[in-house]
Amino acid sequence: MVYGLGIESSCDETSIAIVKNGKELISHKVYSQIETHSPYRGVVPEIASRAHLEKINSLLAVCIEESKLTFSDLSYVAVTGYPGLVGSLMIGAQLARCISLVHSIPIVLVNHLEAHLAVIGLENELPPFPWLGVLLSGGNSSIYIYKGFGDLELLADTQDDSLGEAFDKVSAVLNLPYPGGPIIEKKAFEYVKPKGEKSPFPKLLKEDGPDTIRFSYSGLKTAVLYYIKSLTETETLPIEKITYYFQKTAFELVVRNIRKAINRTQIKTVVAAGGVLANETLRSYLQTEAQNQSFQLYYPQKKIYCTDNGAMVACLGYHLWNEKKFVGLDFKVSPKRNFEQIL
Ligand code: KG4
Repeated sequence: MVYGLGIESSCDETSIAIVKNGKELISHKVYSQIETHSPYRGVVPEIASRAHLEKINSLLAVCIEESKLTFSDLSYVAVTGYPGLVGSLMIGAQLARCISLVHSIPIVLVNHLEAHLAVIGLENELPPFPWLGVLLSGGNSSIYIYKGFGDLELLADTQDDSLGEAFDKVSAVLNLPYPGGPIIEKKAFEYVKPKGEKSPFPKLLKEDGPDTIRFSYSGLKTAVLYYIKSLTETETLPIEKITYYFQKTAFELVVRNIRKAINRTQIKTVVAAGGVLANETLRSYLQTEAQNQSFQLYYPQKKIYCTDNGAMVACLGYHLWNEKKFVGLDFKVSPKRNFEQIL
């Protein structure tokens, strides 16, 4: 029996989890700072790191208590090392160092982005590598070739805004709350599209041929702005219509890029993850595409596994521990996603 602890503090969620054998969740606590940052419409790094510091010890205590384990039962402590806000990462890193030092438990350093993909191991038998890893979050719109634990190759990236950022910015333009994802999804659901109505927004990156795989969402945000400006003073802002077509346009690019990535790599296992995967419309677009194109699709079923969480860190940590990928107490954290640790 292998029990491992996962620590996540890279952005605005403080989270601790204990996982058994890399696939069974024993205890899990997530503290979200969304309410704290929402007046600023984005994460304020200094506030984030202070909030992690205030919460992390009590989350650890509750997690250990609920698990009915002691520190001596743990085989590893996994911690998110990169990418993230450095001040926030350091809070989790310091906790990992303390636990390791006091209880002689090895530390495993985890790539936050990889952990978002590997978390499917808590809900499924892991499919054989390679996978296409599609990350859609507040900081990323990218597609990776996931070749093995700790081995990711970037295939496609965003040129500007990430998909989550586009949700947040369009929400601000519409005077809706932060974060934008959940409220835009709700408003879009309420729209009843008249038969034959055309989208007010152009197809994204329509000039790209089959060999170009990339994301870009800043143009869509501008298109929303121009559309609002084009309305006359007597017209009420059609929030439901705008959110409906915003989602449709944004998700069409995701589906198109996945199709291109499969064609280029011939990899037929697609793992999609990140905060935006909480969106039901996106989930159904992907399911339809998987059926039509016959690929195996995975994404976290539980929405708590879409946003940042300690379970994904403990889960990936297990596989890295298995491969003896430990780091010393002097490990570094980094804002960079292609950060290389010297093991
Ligand atoms: O992965 P995540 O929790 O963390 C960061 O990348 O920081 O992603 C957060 C992003 C936010 O931009 C938020 O608006 C978006 O995920 N999001 C959603 C939904 N829930 C959260 N986007 C679309 N639909 C949702 N239901």
